Amino acid sequence: MNAINRLAAVVALASLLPLNAMAADNGTVEVLHWWTSGGEAKAVETLKAQVEKDGFIWKDNAVAGGGGAAAMTVLKTRAISGNPPAAAQIKGPDIQEWGALGLLTELDDVAKANNWDALLPQKVAQIMKYDGHFVAVPVNIHRVNWLWINPEVFAKAGAKVPTTLDELFAAADKLKAAGFIPLAHGGQPWQDSTVFEDIALSILGPKGYRAAFVELDQDTLTGTQMVEVFKTLQRLGTYMDPNRAGRDWNIAAAEVINGKAGMQIMGDWAKSEWTAAGKVAGKDYQCVAFPGTQGSFAYNIDSLAMFKLKNENDINAQNDLAKVALEPQFQTVFNQNKGSLPVRQDMDMSQFDACTQKSAVDFKEAEKGDGLQPSMAHNMATTLAVQGAIFDVVTNFLNDPKADPATAVKQLDSAIKSAK
Ligand code: BGC
Repeated sequence: MNAINRLAAVVALASLLPLNAMAADNGTVEVLHWWTSGGEAKAVETLKAQVEKDGFIWKDNAVAGGGGAAAMTVLKTRAISGNPPAAAQIKGPDIQEWGALGLLTELDDVAKANNWDALLPQKVAQIMKYDGHFVAVPVNIHRVNWLWINPEVFAKAGAKVPTTLDELFAAADKLKAAGFIPLAHGGQPWQDSTVFEDIALSILGPKGYRAAFVELDQDTLTGTQMVEVFKTLQRLGTYMDPNRAGRDWNIAAAEVINGKAGMQIMGDWAKSEWTAAGKVAGKDYQCVAFPGTQGSFAYNIDSLAMFKLKNENDINAQNDLAKVALEPQFQTVFNQNKGSLPVRQDMDMSQFDACTQKSAVDFKEAEKGDGLQPSMAHNMATTLAVQGAIFDVVTNFLNDPKADPATAVKQLDSAIKSAK
């Protein structure tokens, strides 16, 4: 190859390089998150594409592990060594804890220029602020109290879509008798506690749920209804696949999608797997409120908290990410893929499927009374220390079929006390 041909080859190769490789000088934004399932990855790809389109480099720091416990461990290690990423998936009260450490940067300029205070529900804006300043940007609103159903499996088993806990057990019996796994589940602490919190919302109602997991009220935590919550969890456990230990939530979702199992109790990120599999809401699958929680909405808001940076270009990239996250185009495509509601209040909901439309209606309804409650299992209700104490008690209980519900309630109370 002569010199001219070599040069031509280099130029041709350069034109094949992705834009991000050529935009090195504009700034890089490193994003730490746990969106690693097929559907989640598709959703996060839309954010990356937009940031790259704006000329910045996206440095992906995806830490596998649903619920985010592994990602939070990585984040802490990075922060302790003085090298946090530009942005990290941090949620709920935890934003305050990171803010108090003085590590988060203020996003007031971006927020003002883009009118965040008017765009966001007030409750959401409050969560994103530390000391009166925006330090995080929300991307969505997930609902946790959902039951996902494969209608074909239900029809084969002669099962009816449940609206009460009794009906849930009746459907589970039919599915079991017909040879299906009634309840797909992954034996991981956050998944166990997702089911636990849905049962608690059903039995205690939204006010009791709040008393237990937000106010940590001892009477509620040790009351007879809480014993009932554990009893119900134990009974539901008998309908879960015994080989569930360590199984990821998306693998459990796939069992329902593939017709091996009839139902899954999971937040609406489960929908991202159905969407990625090309299935249509309301036709190929059904989403109903977890039995007994109609009118309530356990919310889980994904947000990206932004860390203080030094490099001017990287700060520009970080600000771009913050801006893009609330733009209508991104809010639409991201949430269509993610299964969640857009967090902006002014969106055209006709672009979303039947489950998301139902979620939007239910959110508004729940907002009017006490129905809107923060998810304990998804870092919205309490500190990570208290949440960890609840996770331990719930998972130990579910893994021991002979465990005594009344004892579990006592253990829950003392574990929470020492974590407070
Ligand atoms: C996050 C979701 C995520 C799910 C499973 C939740 O805590 O809020 O964004 O899809 O965990 O990993």
